[in-house]
Amino acid sequence: MNWGQYMIARFNIAALIIVMGASVSACGDDAITSADASNERAVEIGESVYAENCAACHGANLEGESGWQVKKSDGTLPAPPHNDSGHTWHHDDKLLFGYTKLGGAGMLPKNIKSGMPAFGDTLSDEEIWAVLSFIKSKWSIEAQQRQASMNSQ
Ligand code: HEC
Repeated sequence: MNWGQYMIARFNIAALIIVMGASVSACGDDAITSADASNERAVEIGESVYAENCAACHGANLEGESGWQVKKSDGTLPAPPHNDSGHTWHHDDKLLFGYTKLGGAGMLPKNIKSGMPAFGDTLSDEEIWAVLSFIKSKWSIEAQQRQASMNSQ
C-alpha cells in the first residue's frame, strides 16, 4: 500500500466510525416533546399508555362510549371517541395536552361537570405527548392535516 492508498483506507474507516456514531445517536432515547404521529417510538409508548389509562373510557379502539353526545344523569358527558368520528382532532395540540394533564376540572369553567380525570400526577409530560402521538396516528391523513393547520395558527 502506498501512502495515498493508506490515507484513503484511513479516511474510509474514519467515515465509517462517524456514520456508526450518527446512527447510534439516532436510536438514542430522545425526549418526546410533541404529539408526532410519525415518531414511531412515541406511538409505541403511547399505545401502552393508552391501553392502561384511557381505553377503559375512550374505548380500546378509540371508539368512545356509546351515546357519547348525550349527558348522563350525573350531568357529565360520556367519554368521546378519539378517532375521526369524535372531535379530538378539532383541537390543537396545546389544548389536548392541557386537557389530558389537567383534566376537565382544570380546563373547563367551574360550572361544567367533567368526567375526564387529570393525569398530571400519574403520567409524565413525555407519556402525555406519547399517548397523543398514538391517538394522532389513528386519524386519517385529512384529519391529521386539518389538525396540523390549527396548530400552526
Ligand atoms: C374516567 C373516564 C376517562 C378516562 C380514564 C380518560 N378520559 Fe378523556 N375524557 C373523558 C370524558 C368524559 C371526556 C369528555 C369531556 C369532559 O367531560 O370533560 C374526555 C375528554 C377527553 C379529551 C378532550 C376531547 C375532546 O374532543 O374535547 C381528551 C384530549 C382526552 N379526554 C384524553 C384522554 C387521554 C389521553 C386519556 C388517557 C391518558 C383519557 N382521556 C382518559 C373521560 C375519560
